[in-house]
Amino acid sequence: MKIRKKIEGYVKVMKWTQGDLYWKHAFMVRKFALLLQKQLGGDRDVVEAAALLHDVGKKELLAPGHEKISAKLAEKLLSGLGFNKEKINKVVKCIKYQNFRLLEARILRSADSMALIMDPKGQKWYSKHILRNNKKRIASELKKSFSEIEFGFAKSLVIDTFQKLMRQFGEDVGSKY
Ligand SMILES: [Fe+2]
Repeated sequence: MKIRKKIEGYVKVMKWTQGDLYWKHAFMVRKFALLLQKQLGGDRDVVEAAALLHDVGKKELLAPGHEKISAKLAEKLLSGLGFNKEKINKVVKCIKYQNFRLLEARILRSADSMALIMDPKGQKWYSKHILRNNKKRIASELKKSFSEIEFGFAKSLVIDTFQKLMRQFGEDVGSKY
């Protein structure tokens, strides 16, 4: 799909963190999202575009609220690329992170959280720049991410890493999860 290459290109030139962390996060979210989509169904094109574009608004706002900006930017890009209108509407809904009745939106939220847990470099950056290396805050963000993964088999893919991280940040979760 030609459009895919164009979306990837758009995502790759965006940098809201040093180095390549931004697009690596987006690509990792895509990897997990497609894995979930294969098992759960849903529209593959929507899942892929939403995963790649879900954080593009962070180039303008690195705080809550970037979801709306991301959705607008994605809509503009995809319309320009001639992406199917109905699919664009779904992508926009996914990226807004408000309505989780759509399977694709649920897949995106789970995949985003899986990527946060499985990306040590991204975590390091986020912990340092956003959470000021506060162990309690890091642990609580990780717990939030883990709780937002709603599919059992998705949770099982990241649980070892999650538990290791929790121990590292001073929380003994034992067999709680
Ligand atoms: Fe994200």
